Amino acid sequence: MKMVHLFLALWLQLLGYGWAGMFRKYLVDSPHMWWPSNLIQVSLFRALHEKEKRLNGGKTRLQFFAIVCVSSFAYYVLPGYLFPSISTVSFICWIWKDSITAQQVGSGLNGLGIGSFGLDWSTVAGFLGSPLATPLFAILSTMAGFSMMVYIILPIAYWQNAFESRRFPMFSQETYDGAGQVYNVTRIMNERGFDLDVVGYDGYSKLYLSAVFAIGLGFGFAALMAAITHVALFDGKSIWEHWKKTTGEKNDRSIDVHTRIMRRNYEVVPRWWFMATMIIPFALSFLAIEGFGKQLQLPWWALIMACAFAFAFTLPAGIILATTNQYIAQMIWTDVIVDLLIGYIYPGKPLANVVFKSYSSVSMFQALDFLSDFKLGHYMKIPPKSMFLVQIAGTLVGSAAQFATAWALISNIDNICDIEKLPVGSPWTCPGYDYFYSTSILWGVIGPHRVLDNGVYSILKWFFLIGALAPFAIWLLARRFPNKKWIESVHVPIIFSGAYGILPARPVHYLSWAAVGIFFNYYVYRKYKGWWARHTYILSAALDAGVAFMAVMIYFTLQSKNVYGPVWWGLEADDHCPLAKCPTVPGIFVDGCPAFHITLNHF
Ligand SMILES: *[C@@H]1O[C@H](CO)[C@@H](O)[C@H](O)[C@H]1NC(C)=O
Repeated sequence: MKMVHLFLALWLQLLGYGWAGMFRKYLVDSPHMWWPSNLIQVSLFRALHEKEKRLNGGKTRLQFFAIVCVSSFAYYVLPGYLFPSISTVSFICWIWKDSITAQQVGSGLNGLGIGSFGLDWSTVAGFLGSPLATPLFAILSTMAGFSMMVYIILPIAYWQNAFESRRFPMFSQETYDGAGQVYNVTRIMNERGFDLDVVGYDGYSKLYLSAVFAIGLGFGFAALMAAITHVALFDGKSIWEHWKKTTGEKNDRSIDVHTRIMRRNYEVVPRWWFMATMIIPFALSFLAIEGFGKQLQLPWWALIMACAFAFAFTLPAGIILATTNQYIAQMIWTDVIVDLLIGYIYPGKPLANVVFKSYSSVSMFQALDFLSDFKLGHYMKIPPKSMFLVQIAGTLVGSAAQFATAWALISNIDNICDIEKLPVGSPWTCPGYDYFYSTSILWGVIGPHRVLDNGVYSILKWFFLIGALAPFAIWLLARRFPNKKWIESVHVPIIFSGAYGILPARPVHYLSWAAVGIFFNYYVYRKYKGWWARHTYILSAALDAGVAFMAVMIYFTLQSKNVYGPVWWGLEADDHCPLAKCPTVPGIFVDGCPAFHITLNHF
């Protein structure tokens, strides 16, 4: 096992906890920073731990949880082992078995997904989070972005052959060369230094993306800019006021009841505990990066830059999260800006790119999680010192265990993540990591300069401008028609990030997620409000738990011993639309696809 990887994982997780302590006063003690997502957890804990009287023969919430959890556990044998095809049903492809176009329209995984659905909780909640815990307006905004992307922009761009995209699958998160084959990264990498071989690159091909990948990146840029303008226009004033009140708190009277109880009963965590959790992991990271023969490619100044960057962004991201529950700004900030930044300043080094990205985003996420958990402890009256120690211990054990698991999987499973070579019925397809890998090739090896400044994709830069301006349009409309309240709830950043999230999620995930979410948060919410309020969050947690237990059980009892389900049509974890991934221009030849005959004279 390579120590450098384990060290990196451990120090990375701890680093952010250190500076979380610096922001405690502002983000935890202040009553104005109320962390909405914590309230859901508080209600779940109360349901599971408080004594409850049965209402005239009905069930307690704990009984409800148990029943749903066991049912979900039992059902997951089907999608998880015997019948994985049930996770993506795309019946248009069953009808038109020979038509590329029909399969591109009907495929739930590699096409527009019309009429596709999945009878599997992991299809519903695996990529986009639980729809039951997502407010209706956010579901509708996300679906507006999805529909705009998948039903308007993507078909037009694809069938007009924008970015030469008809040479490639319409939906794919892989990277391609000009001949329509998967990009052969070996040909552009120096073996010795593991960096870009410019001569090799010039002699090979530009890097191409599928239509959905390219446009999705554009929407990532747009969503980032839109988040900034939107927050400034719509939430700026209230965030600023909360902030002024938070920093202006001098006397005890403005402190809320939670803070007063906490201060009376418990000792606060001393500042040096936090200092130590910041300085020790930083020093060790420094050693990990400079030592080990500099395998990680990242120079020391970039490590400092990554940390400084994450530190500076923790407070604004924390204020937005704690007052509006918007994760988007920070997600896209780290996904897009960090990639571009290190890609511009230090191109051609894929590992440096990934390490920089991890340091500047994971540490910030950890800081925010830590603060959020402190606030949960604040609401639930947990002594802060115990909270701190338990979190640190949990993080160390958790990341070591996760690391060991990941390592064991990588070393024991042949062809892990290579869908073509895995046995049928194998669960190890890794959609999220695939996407991470492709973006690290795109921004880390080839670099944003080659892609955005003189590549096929330079037009994507305009999405920054579109994103920055779009919220203005809504803001102006809202001022023009002040009595139409719904205009203000049009949330441009969520719309754009709905379009951006299309990879690695796929249309079938969006459609199933939205169907369940709208059913519960519109229909059930309207008609059976009492039931909804009592059960929805618990339902979601119970379904998750059932799926997770069964997945682990199947793995340890069967799949880890290479015992897969009986071979039949339904064992493929696929939507049975083989032609949806085919190119649609002449001259490109891909295995398993019909060749287009050259009919045009000038070709
Ligand atoms: C990629 O390129 C390398 C070096 O030219 C070659 O050895 C290898 O076979 C290629 N791989 C594929 C899949 O074409």
